[in-house]
Amino acid sequence: MSQPTYPSLRMRRTRAHGWSRALHRETVLTPADLIWPLFVTEGTGVEEPIAALPGVSRWSADRIAERAKEAIALGIPCVALFPNTQPGRRSEDGAEALNPGNLMCRAIRSIRDACGDEIGVLTDVALDPYTSHGQDGLLGDAGYVLNDATVEALVAQSLNQASAGADIIAPSDMMDGRIGAIRAALEGAGHVNVQIMSYAAKYASAFYGPFRDAVGSRGLLQGDKQTYQMDPANSEEALREVALDLAEGADSVMVKPGLPYLDIVVRVKQRFEVPVFAYQVSGEYAMIEAAVAVGAGTRDALVLETLMAFKRAGCSGVLTYHAAHAARLLGD
Ligand code: PBG
Repeated sequence: MSQPTYPSLRMRRTRAHGWSRALHRETVLTPADLIWPLFVTEGTGVEEPIAALPGVSRWSADRIAERAKEAIALGIPCVALFPNTQPGRRSEDGAEALNPGNLMCRAIRSIRDACGDEIGVLTDVALDPYTSHGQDGLLGDAGYVLNDATVEALVAQSLNQASAGADIIAPSDMMDGRIGAIRAALEGAGHVNVQIMSYAAKYASAFYGPFRDAVGSRGLLQGDKQTYQMDPANSEEALREVALDLAEGADSVMVKPGLPYLDIVVRVKQRFEVPVFAYQVSGEYAMIEAAVAVGAGTRDALVLETLMAFKRAGCSGVLTYHAAHAARLLGD
């Protein structure tokens, strides 16, 4: 069959009216596609704005529950928690990560107490908010981050978070073998319905700067994370990472950062046909806000277009600091 051509085919015909554009829209974005990352800090009644992330604050555990209630009201199904551990509680081995009374666990319980199971709580597993050196794992000779010893700590950290009530364990550390070890430990402890969302393809990226400010690790970090996070030049390697994490028991996988890595999202989705999430990271948020600040674009349009792009690429959902704002726009 020969393809119709202009003028029998006019691609603009279906774009001519709003109702028709709505009818032909291939992708939908709803608040249910969003995961809202939240930063936790010590104290009660505290809100601390984060300079590098204009419009984003750290909240004390009591006020985190208010944010979770706000998320529920907006139709956001899940929040992601990141603690800004007090300097005095950071150490060489990040042992505070295993403390059942740590900031993360108190924030989880605060949300649980206030919201029951009306919202999912995703918790980050990695040692960087707890170490005095800002690396995600334990240091060996010459500052090399040790794999197997770190995995043991991550397993204990995961059990600690699951016991406090976390719904989704999200290891962001990129150690080898950690998904299998964490899954086995969760099963062994009876946490059979606690999910694992693996940061499977996480790149050693320049886009994490504002996040490191937010959790207080930027000034502490010695060196970089290139011996465990992926080289931005690689995509076949991302597929191998995803295959391993799925084989080890990940329920869903994540690609991170977001927009610069949409090609990875597409390849992962097409190859594995599993739930894929993307993290629109702090540097991406800051870029949008910087563009808005100089009048290079309008926030609402930039936010909705970028989030739609993740859905179009095949994401089940997106972690974004713009989640509440986007959900409000989508609800209007
Ligand atoms: C740490 C972690 C990072 C992010 C999420 N978990 C930073 C890093 O790996 O250095 C980045 C998130 C963001 O930039 O918004 N394991």
